[in-house]
Amino acid sequence: MTDMTESHTVAFPQNRTCPYHPPTAYDPLRDARPLARITLFDGRPVWLVTGHSLARALLADPRLSSDRMRSGFPAPTARFAAIRDRKTALLGVDDPEHRVQRRMMVPSFTLRRAAGLRPEIQRIVDERLDAMIAQGSPAELVSAFALPVPSMVICALLGVPYADHDFFEGQSRRLLRGPTAADSMAARDRLEAYFVELIDRKQKQSEPGDGVLDELVHQQLRDGELDREELIALAIILLVAGHETTANMISLGTFTLLQHPDRLAELRADAGLLPAAVEELMRMLSIADGMLRVAVEDIETDGETIRAGEGVVFSTSVINRDESVYPDPDTLDWHRPARHHVAFGFGIHQCLGQNLARAEMEIALRTLFDRLPTLRLAVPAEEIPFKPGDTIQGMLELPVTW
Ligand code: HEM
Repeated sequence: MTDMTESHTVAFPQNRTCPYHPPTAYDPLRDARPLARITLFDGRPVWLVTGHSLARALLADPRLSSDRMRSGFPAPTARFAAIRDRKTALLGVDDPEHRVQRRMMVPSFTLRRAAGLRPEIQRIVDERLDAMIAQGSPAELVSAFALPVPSMVICALLGVPYADHDFFEGQSRRLLRGPTAADSMAARDRLEAYFVELIDRKQKQSEPGDGVLDELVHQQLRDGELDREELIALAIILLVAGHETTANMISLGTFTLLQHPDRLAELRADAGLLPAAVEELMRMLSIADGMLRVAVEDIETDGETIRAGEGVVFSTSVINRDESVYPDPDTLDWHRPARHHVAFGFGIHQCLGQNLARAEMEIALRTLFDRLPTLRLAVPAEEIPFKPGDTIQGMLELPVTW
């Protein structure tokens, strides 16, 4: 293992230089496998897991906690530090509480449920593309397509009115990348107030609607399996994680494919490659770059000891480019087995929405490139703004023409 003494630790997170590669500033971290030291925004040094096999071992290790209120839990941004005391369902709780919440949610997010949603996803994708094409070229793909598709899908699944999308998309944006910590906190509180009201309305309906939230209100809440606070925390994470992440994968995935015309031509010629292409894009783009844990016991690993109370961060972009697992890792190549990437996490917190996200990405990308065979960037790639490193990665805008 390369020596990464405190004197030259890398600051984390940092902005990417190219939207689909890890920041060049992380190069020393890529040389330091499987474990390195980084410095967070407040100057705190913590561990960064960089090796693929160590990442999977530690993500499955109950000696690492996801409880944000535990002393030593790492905060990558001031924004995160400000909202860490707000209840976060699933992602912010450990077993046995986590197991109870996860069991409740799993039936709504199985592969079968996602497969059953495919016709509805296809309908939404077609409708958005019809509208975009009717408006004419050029278009801004994030607002016209990449964001509304997952937003409409998660609304339909949860039973949240899509008519409220301006509100909840705006608040999610502030929550995840508000200009100040106070702004993010206010956004979290507004989302909470929104769900208090929505859940009240659902409770008063004599006939439950057919969304996941309706089921939770009319079964678990009524039977006392969930309390209101938990239900609201669940609703927030499902709505926010359910649209922001996939929207970024659609926008950045499209940008990346347009920057790789040979690969794109191959994909167009053989749609059967699409599932593998989606996996490889997930690996390469690693948009959720920084999973957070704190050690609750000492952990001996690779000649180092992670002490109880020390923060541990997992960089998906660095882990998913571990050369010992993915030779030539900076190359987009869906003929490699990319499936074991950690872009959806690993262990008990592995992404609940991954089956849904895969279905959305496949349908959105296939239909977009089928319907618009001449799709291309409307301005030079270097001029297109993308998201800063301290949030989920993706394009801020994507001007396209056809
Ligand atoms: C391509 C899009 C997506 C990416 C890249 C992504 C990424 C991730 C990652 C990395 C984790 C694990 C975090 C950790 O362990 O600290 C996670 C967890 C989670 N994701 Fe996703 N996600 C995506 C789409 C979705 C969708 C569509 C939903 C729908 C509801 C969703 C809901 C969740 C939830 C609820 C968790 C927490 C699970 C738990 O703690 O048990 N995600 N996601």
